[in-house]
Amino acid sequence: MELRSLGASGIDVPVVGMGTWKTFDVRDPNEVAQRARVVDAALAGGTNLFDSSPMYGSAEQVLGAALDGRRDRALVATKVWTPDDAEAERQIQRAMGYYARHVDVYQVHNLTALPRRLRRLEQLRDEGRVGSVGATHYAHSAFPELMDLMRSGRVTCVQVPYNVRDRLVEERLLPLAGECNIGVLIMRPLGVGELARQRPTPEQLRPFVEFGVQTWSQVLLKWLLSDPRVTTVIPATSNPAHARENAAAGDPPWFGPAEREAVVQLAGEL
Ligand SMILES: NC(=O)c1ccc[n+]([C@@H]2O[C@H](COP(=O)([O-])OP(=O)(O)OC[C@H]3O[C@@H](n4cnc5c(N)ncnc54)[C@H](OP(=O)(O)O)[C@@H]3O)[C@@H](O)[C@H]2O)c1
Repeated sequence: MELRSLGASGIDVPVVGMGTWKTFDVRDPNEVAQRARVVDAALAGGTNLFDSSPMYGSAEQVLGAALDGRRDRALVATKVWTPDDAEAERQIQRAMGYYARHVDVYQVHNLTALPRRLRRLEQLRDEGRVGSVGATHYAHSAFPELMDLMRSGRVTCVQVPYNVRDRLVEERLLPLAGECNIGVLIMRPLGVGELARQRPTPEQLRPFVEFGVQTWSQVLLKWLLSDPRVTTVIPATSNPAHARENAAAGDPPWFGPAEREAVVQLAGEL
């Protein structure tokens, strides 16, 4: 698994990480134990960066349980998400409890209450309890505010949507990330599962096999990682086999412009 530097944070992250939205929001003990097997498969493949949020129901806690006894092998990216200061502090204290008093990447979710949340996360970073401070937003309409924050020098990473069908970040946000040396985590890399459900034929996948990818999901992830401005993609899965499959997309060689264009064409035809 290739590693890339998360902006100026000094943290090297695997190019294929893992999200937990919906997939880790489980409570049944059998389901919770099964998500630990998803984490087993991810770690075995080199995927050791896991993204969560208090917005994702029980996902933060389920991830913490899955990392019990092996927290030092993982990088945790989570978020604070509330306009209420007291609730923000409760979210932070809960996360510190789940993740052995350290969060590697702490993000302001949806830029909520940004000035106050940033100040608190910077304080935690200065105390050594947070590695990288960042911010996330899923909406194109929030990109201008996110880019103002990137120019301020106060974050070392951002998390935004990017996939073959949602390419707006290519225009201004990714160039700015390069200029400002800011790491970029990619949410929705498989179009919230919609792209992963497309079914190309083996013949249609053949041109990409020489790049070490066998499946359409791997092609979609490699398409993103072949843009060098992308630091890491965080596909979510509840399936250990998918975790293994996704991790295997994280090695070079990367696609060139012709292969990237061919992937876009194919996704449009399927
Ligand atoms: N969507 C948002 O608005 C949003 C916002 C902020 C942050 N994020 C973060 O970004 C992460 C990723 O985005 P996302 O979860 O929205 O969507 P995504 O990663 O694009 O898609 C996840 C879906 O893809 C399926 N999948 C994963 N690997 C697969 C494979 N190899 N083959 C077939 N299907 C596969 C999963 O189903 P299986 O369980 O069956 O594998 C799941 O339903 C989130 O989990 C979260 O941590 C998302």
